Amino acid sequence: MDVFRTKSVEAIRADAEGETGDGLRKQLRLRDLVGFGVGIVIGTGIFTLTGVQAKENAGPAVVLSFAIAGVVSLLAALCYAELASAVPTAGSAYTYAYATLGEMFAWIIGWDLILEFALGAAVVARSWSGYLADLFGLPPRLFTEEAPVNIGAVLIVVVLGVIAAVGVKESARVTNFLVLVKVAISVFIIIAGFFFIKKSNVVPFIAESTPKEAGGSSLDQPLLQVVAGVTPAAFGLAGVITAAAVVFFAYTGFEAVANLSEESKRPARDLPRALIGTLILCTILYMLVAFVVTGMVKYSDLDESAPIAKAFDSVGASWAGVLVSIAAVAGLTSVILVELVTMGRIGFAMGRDGLLPKSVAKVSPRFGTPVRLTIGIVILVSVLGAIVPLAELAEMVSIGALFAFLLVSIAVPVLRRTKPELKRPFRVPLSPLIPILSGLACIYLMVNLVVETWIRFVVWLALGMIIYFGYGRRNARLAAKLVTES
Ligand code: ALA
Repeated sequence: MDVFRTKSVEAIRADAEGETGDGLRKQLRLRDLVGFGVGIVIGTGIFTLTGVQAKENAGPAVVLSFAIAGVVSLLAALCYAELASAVPTAGSAYTYAYATLGEMFAWIIGWDLILEFALGAAVVARSWSGYLADLFGLPPRLFTEEAPVNIGAVLIVVVLGVIAAVGVKESARVTNFLVLVKVAISVFIIIAGFFFIKKSNVVPFIAESTPKEAGGSSLDQPLLQVVAGVTPAAFGLAGVITAAAVVFFAYTGFEAVANLSEESKRPARDLPRALIGTLILCTILYMLVAFVVTGMVKYSDLDESAPIAKAFDSVGASWAGVLVSIAAVAGLTSVILVELVTMGRIGFAMGRDGLLPKSVAKVSPRFGTPVRLTIGIVILVSVLGAIVPLAELAEMVSIGALFAFLLVSIAVPVLRRTKPELKRPFRVPLSPLIPILSGLACIYLMVNLVVETWIRFVVWLALGMIIYFGYGRRNARLAAKLVTES
């Protein structure tokens, strides 16, 4: 069955090291990798989800929900760290699947990641535009959800697309600056907010469990609930877990660091540090922000759309609202930039393997980046961001990420068996226990997403299969025996 053919690790390494003339320039240091990681992770999630989830599901214990989602992400990050340090390649999850589970799975995961990042960038570009309009009083008919064509979203995608095309080093510089702004403001918010915490707001820490009202169509309910008839509870421990599935969105994106491993100067040392460091930093920041916000305002009184700014308003410190908006704009800008850069890497890796047209994925000798592909991506994301109201599609980003994490968790033990002699600068501790836990945690969070998201996801994958059988399967370099199978 040629759809299960696998690409050999030797061929993957030869490609990534540029021996076939197709490599990317290696110029990123640890600082740049962590910058990209934090750049893509901290975005709308923390600024919007904290309020709703504390209010509806977890109370002050939303801090624990962030901890749980952080641990699930960390398990997956350990798996990514093993593979990214042993096989540094721009394709990341897509390429690991190619080496272990076979070409069809590789294609599915590549297609899935394009969905995650293209939708993510378009969703975030629209919300970026809204924040900017708020901050500077720009006309809503051009910059908000009222706009028939959202000019702000197009503008930001085009500007960042130019930076992404010009070079990964330039992208890293811009990202590092934006990350400094958003992290500094977040730390400031935490410190300033600490003085307004009231004990009565956080006690009891885990609010008493109450059954959730049933209602709505089954499309809006989590898959687990529809299939197994499990009714989610609000508050209590169950509420904390329900909230964890939602706030997981705030961690999505860290895996993009692995897509930059081919451009890392010292992947064996830096990749594990960057992946794990990014997550630890973001988890701590998220937990502290959540703690401060729920400490300042009783959870039942939290604002749903701008919980942090409104919490400061309520204690008479409205100046903080402006700071929060600046942090959000800086945060969202770096999310879009890193998503554009990452999509370029995934598409490039798929083109190098012949699963997408090779000419599209060509690296420009002048810039050292896949310029043509980046232009194509900018057009796609601008059109999506300009005209499609995407807010309700944000969950697609989570399902896309979780599916990739699941396959990466499977790839670790499979590669340990098929390629035991491979040099692994970082090894997941207690394998296969940690990869199995990671995979199960991903499945659990996935079945907690609503049925409608699942239907959209399956339709997207089916479309991908049609393209694979129509194009990729015949044009793959493996099909022409241009690279070695394992
Ligand atoms: N993790 C990113 C965010 O929270 C996508 O916006």
